[in-house]
Amino acid sequence: MKERTLVVVTAGLSQPSSTRLLADRLSAAAVDAAASLGVRLDVRVLELRDLAHDITDHMLTGFPPAALKDALDAVAAADALIAVTPVFNASYSGLFKSFFDVVDKDALADKPVLIAATGGTARHSLALEHALRPMFAYLHAVTVPTSVFAASEDWGGDESAGQLFGRILRAADELAREVARREPVTVADPFALTTSFEDLLAG
Ligand SMILES: Cc1cc2nc3c(=O)[nH]c(=O)nc-3n(C[C@H](O)[C@H](O)[C@H](O)COP(=O)(O)O)c2cc1C
Repeated sequence: MKERTLVVVTAGLSQPSSTRLLADRLSAAAVDAAASLGVRLDVRVLELRDLAHDITDHMLTGFPPAALKDALDAVAAADALIAVTPVFNASYSGLFKSFFDVVDKDALADKPVLIAATGGTARHSLALEHALRPMFAYLHAVTVPTSVFAASEDWGGDESAGQLFGRILRAADELAREVARREPVTVADPFALTTSFEDLLAG
């Protein structure tokens, strides 16, 4: 089985968070879909509320505190991302945007990303298409065609019978296929020696 990494970025503020719930449903479906394609996904969840102060510090100082640096490195090294935000004022939340504002501009290039959002009303589901998808396009990520929106009324009852469940499976399958057909991500070490000691001494 191939081994790949999946980072789940979730920007919910409530505890418990419906955004986190959607993120967990999506990552579980992605793990299953990837397994059926011979890929074992190692999942790491980044709760942005835990990094909120660090994100502000980074924006003010230009340097990421250790926990945020670790999160940013995980995003850069991930083979795929699931990015989930609550809809605030008909767009992504400020915390969600701020996190991706401090991600290196090349870190998401050619990376498969599944975008998803939660909201109080299904009328705002297009925030995924007019806000999230353009932002990830700017970052040169490969967003999968199916985005997933969960409104308050989508939760409860028999989830496996609802439209939300179907979209989760479809989006997770699309993400898994993108991961399965790619080589694993390798991150270059900026401090690695690219010249041998012999060449350095000869020079
Ligand atoms: C400041 C604020 C603005 C919001 N704006 C919208 C909105 O424009 N459209 C919408 O559908 N829901 C809106 N909501 C509702 C949240 O998107 C919804 O409650 C979300 O699922 C909360 O996620 P959480 O449980 O992970 O914190 C807003 C909530 C807050 C606090």
